[in-house]
Amino acid sequence: MLTLDLTNATAALVATDFDALCDRIPEVHARIESGSDPRPGSAYLGWRHLPETLDPAEFARQIDCAARLREVAPRCVVAGIGGSYLGAKATIDALGSDQTIRFAGHHVDPEAVAELLAEIDDGDFTVVVISKSGTTTETAVAFRLLRELLVRRHGARKAAERIVAITDPEGGALRRLAGAEGYESFAIPPDVGGRFSVLTPVGLLPIAIAGIDIDGLVAGAAAVMRQAAPSPDYAPYRYAAARTALHQAGKRIEVLATQSVRLAGVGEWWKQLFGESEGKEASGLFPASVQYTTDLHSLGQWLQEGPREVIETFLAVESPVADPAIPAGGDDGDGLTYLAGRPLSEVNQAALAATRFAHLTGGIPNMLIRAGRRDAPHLGALYAFFERAVAMSGYLLGVDPFTQPGVEQYKQAMFALLGKPGTRFAAAGQWQQYQERPTVALEVAVDTADPARR
Ligand code: PA5
Repeated sequence: MLTLDLTNATAALVATDFDALCDRIPEVHARIESGSDPRPGSAYLGWRHLPETLDPAEFARQIDCAARLREVAPRCVVAGIGGSYLGAKATIDALGSDQTIRFAGHHVDPEAVAELLAEIDDGDFTVVVISKSGTTTETAVAFRLLRELLVRRHGARKAAERIVAITDPEGGALRRLAGAEGYESFAIPPDVGGRFSVLTPVGLLPIAIAGIDIDGLVAGAAAVMRQAAPSPDYAPYRYAAARTALHQAGKRIEVLATQSVRLAGVGEWWKQLFGESEGKEASGLFPASVQYTTDLHSLGQWLQEGPREVIETFLAVESPVADPAIPAGGDDGDGLTYLAGRPLSEVNQAALAATRFAHLTGGIPNMLIRAGRRDAPHLGALYAFFERAVAMSGYLLGVDPFTQPGVEQYKQAMFALLGKPGTRFAAAGQWQQYQERPTVALEVAVDTADPARR
């Protein structure tokens, strides 16, 4: 069960257009269901019926493939970026893995890549490379390095048995490479965008390799998708209307606050989902995520007394799978005897309740989403909840939530810098001016001499 609690946002919502936005939900739901929005994102609505439309034969092939890769090696490197890795990482971080899973291709940090390559230098690993376009530089570069290592250790034919590609069914460099090299491959449905793809092979294969119950994940998501209705009583839509109303009333930032360390990755996934879907046409709440109570000791001051432009959404798990009791501890030297014998969850729940109260009284309206347990069905349900919510809130806001044109700008500049052949740089004029700007830089000397010689 997921519960959405709006109690601490009710007062703030009174002075907003919340009711009017709720009234628009049936029309926007119809637009989501029919794909009738005239903008390009309507071509990417396949996520709505995803668990149901998964081909049973392909689903079974993913389970078989995961079992095969688990047999081949105890380690798997998953290469992908953005929507092509965040869902798998969030799920594996949340639920754990009985294999060693490493992620690559989501940065181009030479030191981190070198560390990973050193760790897997024996070649005892498999690779799942994921890219819908098949051309994403970060992922393609990482894959080239991983492939080279495997080929060096095993030869081209054996290396190919250790590689699985997940990409567009029709074209793209990765699809062609998979065909030419004979990699097992899976298709990302063309009508599902990257950040909505956790319930396709993009998420499901790595999650299955980790030994996680993908049936449960899919069942949890399906339950939430099935309940979608043209009504503000559908919790994802009510959440969408509330955050949109608060945004339109002047709030600029939404903080997703998790009370469970294992859910930090869900915060990262959520940031991409909402950030890429809504941050356009100079609008959209900035999605930030924090981990409580850890961040109460770093960002707590800012949240309590900083600019009042924030709303907060708490994400809490009701029943922890483990719950140590605080020991009796002798003579009360640490002053904690009043907690002796009480479960840690009681402290966590008190921290949650206290933070919600403190931040509300400090001027931050907050909402609470509670998941019954930290398990596969609840995670699947959360993914579906937020996907439904962002579709609704994007359309309520007036943007096209299923495109991400702004991501191209940095890529074009990077390609121009790297001299990628055949690329057209739309902002070439601005780039020229930018390069000619006067340099303003200050240096601070750092003494790197050997301490022994100082
Ligand atoms: O949501 C999206 O579409 C993006 O974040 C993509 O997932 C990301 O840019 C990676 O793209 P690709 O899968 O084509 O490598």
